[in-house]
Formats: sequence, C-alpha cells, structure tokens
Amino acid sequence: MQPLTSHPTGTLSGTIRVPGDKSISHRALMLGALAVGRTEVDGLLEGEDVLRTAAAMNALGAAASRLDDGTWQVDGVGVGGLSEPDSVLDMGNSGTAARLLTGVLATHGLTAFMTGDASLVKRPMARVTVPLVRMGAQFVTREGGRLPMAIVGTRSPVPITYTLPVASAQVKSAVLLAGLNTPGITTVIEPHATRDHSENMLRHFGAEVSVDDTEEGGQAITIAGEPELTARRITVPGDISSAAFPIVAALIRPDSDITLTGVGINPRRTGLLDTLIEMGGRIELLNRREEAGEPIADIRVRGSELNGVDVPPERAPSMIDEYPVLGVAAACATGTTRMLGVGELRVKESDRLAMTAAGLEACGIAVDADSDSLTVQGTGQNVGVPEGGATVATELDHRIAMSFLVLGMAARSAVAIDDAQPIETSFPGFAALMNGLGASIAPTKAAA
Ligand code: S3P
Repeated sequence: MQPLTSHPTGTLSGTIRVPGDKSISHRALMLGALAVGRTEVDGLLEGEDVLRTAAAMNALGAAASRLDDGTWQVDGVGVGGLSEPDSVLDMGNSGTAARLLTGVLATHGLTAFMTGDASLVKRPMARVTVPLVRMGAQFVTREGGRLPMAIVGTRSPVPITYTLPVASAQVKSAVLLAGLNTPGITTVIEPHATRDHSENMLRHFGAEVSVDDTEEGGQAITIAGEPELTARRITVPGDISSAAFPIVAALIRPDSDITLTGVGINPRRTGLLDTLIEMGGRIELLNRREEAGEPIADIRVRGSELNGVDVPPERAPSMIDEYPVLGVAAACATGTTRMLGVGELRVKESDRLAMTAAGLEACGIAVDADSDSLTVQGTGQNVGVPEGGATVATELDHRIAMSFLVLGMAARSAVAIDDAQPIETSFPGFAALMNGLGASIAPTKAAA
C-alpha cells in the first residue's frame, strides 16, 4: 500500500503532456502483433495495464519490445499466427486487455489460460464469452463468468451478427477482433455509439471495416475476415481520460491556467468536456490536428465557477471512465448535478458508483446513488468548499485514486487515499506531474 495525501492547493499553472491513450495503446500492440512486418509505435502508454498486453503478445509468439520512452516496435505474426502460450496470461488490472485478447484468441486454434488481479477476477467476462461461443470458441470460467478462465479457440470459426446488449467498446472490439481470423463478414450492431478506436485502427492496418446506420438509430459495424494486416507507424495521442484529472483540478482552483498538449479528442471520448463546458468550465481546444486517424488538440483550461447540470444517459458511453472525476467537479459546483444512466460504473475496476458516492460522502458532500444514477449536491465555490479531511479507500481503482487526490486540492482539509499504487496502471508519474502544476501531493505521514 502507498498512502498519499493531497493538500489544499492555490492556483495551477503550466503546460504538460499526459501519458498516451490506454485504449489506443492496447490496440496498437494487439494489431501490431497480428500484422505482417514491424509496427512502430510512439507515445505508447507505459502503464501496467498496457505492459500486460505487451507481455501477453510476447507470450503468444509476437515480439513487442521497448526501444525508448514510449517508443516500441512489434514484429507481428500475421492474422491467425499466434501460438499457444506456455503459461497463464495474467492481465493484471486490465479489463480491456482481458476482453480484447479473449476476442483475438477465440478464433485461434489454441488453448490459453487467463487470469488477473483481485479487481479483474471480480469483473464479468460473460459479456464477451457469450458472442464468442456463437463463433465456435469454448470457455471454462469460474462461477458468474469470472476469471481465471480457460479459452479453447476454434479452428473453424463462423461469422456472426451480434447486437450489443450493453454499450461496451470492449465487447464490440472482442467480436471484431475475433472476426479478423474468421472467414466471411462479422457484424456488430451497437444501439449506442461507443469509442471507435478498434474500427479506426483496424482500417489503419488495412482491414475492411464498414459502418452503416441502422433503422433503429444505432450502427452496424462489419469486418471482412482474413485480411492481411500490414505493419504501420502509430503515434498514440495523449489520453483524454488521464487529461480529465488535471482538467478538473484546474477548473476547481480559482485563477488556474493550464495547457495540455496533444490530447486525443475523438468525439466518442469527449463527453466530459461537453459536460464541463455546460457547467461553465472555461475549456478551449487549440491547434486541432490529426494523428494516425485520430483527432487531437491542445486543451487550455482556466479556473471557473461551475454550476450543476443534468448529464443525460445517452452521453454515458462517451465519458464512461470520467464520472468519478466529474463527481469531484460537481462537488465544487453550485447546485445539483445528476448523472443518469451510469449503471455500467458498477462493473469497472471497482463499483465506481458506490466508491465515488462513498468517497464524496466521507468528504462531507451530500450524494444520492441508486442502481443507475448518481446525484451530487455541489458545495458551491463561492458559498463553501468541500470539507475533505477523509481517507478514501481505492480498492485497486486508479480513477478513484486520482479523483480524490484532485478533490483534496479544493477541499478545506487534505484528502488522503489509502493506496496510490493502482495509478501506475494508467498514469505513471501522476503526482509529480500535478505537483509540477502547483499541486501538493505527498506520501501520507504516519500517525504519531
Ligand atoms: C475501453 C472501453 C470502456 C472503458 C475502458 C476502456 C476500451 O469499457 O471503460 O476503460 O478501451 O475499449 P467498456 O467497453 O466495458 O465500457
């Protein structure tokens, strides 16, 4: 355990670059491993989650190696070319690594065993195994469809059309990746649009992926099986989900002025920016450009007086990882913020709905949570500030850990977290980077 305390902070200022996008980093390694030739990646997130994916690709016969900070190369084996791993694939804390890789392995004729840490082994895998069984794969899981699990990939996969029962880019991606080594056309229908990094990167590597609107207002995504993927260069943009923490921190510290350079602003990911701007946040997107098929920008954020808003359920997929830190912004706003349609938060690295509510309550903020919504009563920057003064349990959840360190910057009394270790999964160097902007995050002093 690494307890950390975030002390009340003045203004934040400066220019930083947040680490590479986690979703795109996992996909770059997996598709690089399935391409023919050498893929070169810059800006790869070197967090623990992504390092698990790199290790798994090596265990499966591809060669992913680090050349320099964030610069990696992957020698791919071609679609269908992975080989049986000698030992258990341990995906650590990463649901994305576990679920996407399950899709890849489902249509390789090999047997593999997969596990994860104390958080990942509680998370549902049936959402991916159900469609993959229809394609011909077999799985043995623990009760409730949990890891550890045995994966018996099929040698004769059949293409399917699958309608997503939950808005999940991980499930969509698992089926599309399984479709890569399947003859014919595999189709995923998504009633609500989720992040499309898999589609973008599959196309970037030369796969045929089409997207058509459905009559019901959703989208049908198809992939033509058995393409030859060709090695590519990939520049990974900064992770908007990591940028979320300094963005909220600057908004809630009066007179702050920070700039984050080169952040991915794929519209399927920017629901938090829309929400914060609606709340009155002064956020500007500067120098918009494109890298490796993904839009990026520099983001300037200034201290702002925020007001509570209703966040509609249809926005949830575009900001699913950002609700804990939105809870912090809401706590510092004037008025009430209602986050609707957020039931998926219950199956993230922790039960994020419960953990966000409990942490805010421990810091003196009135909240109301039910199965699918979270309501936060803002303390109002001009009227009062959150009490703080609590130690928040993080339960192996990096985003809960960072959210409450951000709250500590704006609270009357410092806020501690019991364990900062999970932050390494997605945002190595978080405390140092925030301290460089003017925050005051330090190891918790042991009680005398
Ligand atoms: C991710 C999808 C989301 C998100 C996760 C990353 C991805 O999960 O929460 O952090 O890279 O596809 P779900 O697909 O389960 O919503």
